[in-house]
Amino acid sequence: MSEKIKNPQSKIKNFLSLSQINSDQLRLILDKVFELHGRQCDLLAGKTLAMIFEKPSLRTRVSFEQAMYELGGQAIVIRQDEVGLGKREAISDVARVLGGMVHGIAARVFDHNVLVQLAEFSGIPVINMLCDDEHPAQALADVMTLMQEFSPDHHDLACRKLAWIGDGNNVARSLAQISKLLGMKMMLASPAGYELTDAAQWGATQVRDPKQAVADADAVVTDTFVSMGQEAEKAKRLEAFRGYQVNDELLAAAPKHAVVLHCLPAYRGVEITDSVMDGPRSRVFREAHNRLHAQKGLLAVLLS
Ligand code: CP
Ligand code: NVA
Repeated sequence: MSEKIKNPQSKIKNFLSLSQINSDQLRLILDKVFELHGRQCDLLAGKTLAMIFEKPSLRTRVSFEQAMYELGGQAIVIRQDEVGLGKREAISDVARVLGGMVHGIAARVFDHNVLVQLAEFSGIPVINMLCDDEHPAQALADVMTLMQEFSPDHHDLACRKLAWIGDGNNVARSLAQISKLLGMKMMLASPAGYELTDAAQWGATQVRDPKQAVADADAVVTDTFVSMGQEAEKAKRLEAFRGYQVNDELLAAAPKHAVVLHCLPAYRGVEITDSVMDGPRSRVFREAHNRLHAQKGLLAVLLS
């Protein structure tokens, strides 16, 4: 049943990076995420989100598209081989055209600067659906999952600790940024050359030993060792990340209450074992489903 929901007072123009969001703005989004959880309404009736993909996607595409539908709006998906962003047409021209036709743009790109240009020239809200440097929408679903686990009434994660095992990549960076905003601690264990270079800027600690990172963690988090666009480095990366698998032995070094997150897609048997993915401490499928709920809150704040 469709419900009337009060418009949130938004001052958030774009969602390109959690480094550009303050803790009050994040709280506004997260409050809206929980308010809209499980509800359909007409908040975005008549509104359209254009979604551009330079890289593949399952969760991000389906969750944003379904979120628009559940808020009474619609989404148009445009693949890079159709739009030719920066190839068939200048990014600034694509942005100007979309700015006069739709109400928001969401884009999954390689280069973060493409998102910045889309925002600059479109004049409408732009959402980062993943770039080489960050994946902020994923971080929203991750903290939602941890709030459901550890603080269902107050949604407070202050002083909780995340252990990141593996590549200091886009997902790790957004988690470090959101951890700082929410007062969480984060320790990353990565092999040499694959650290999160700006970890200290977000108050996160970088170590080598995965067991040291998980020792007092509330959540153990990992991601693929070979991100989209890094396929040519696969052999070198798999060699470098030996010893960084999230498996039963590593989990035995974590507190009993610690849960496991993975943004997915997972390469079972590589960065995470079947026994962990499918085990009692895994929250990875709730995390994936929470992408839908997180996108609804985000879209409600940005587009209404
Ligand atoms: N976690 C995530 O972003 O998944 P997709 O690449 O399938 O969208
Ligand atoms: N780090 C991964 C995340 C996939 C959702 C990648 O960029 O491919």
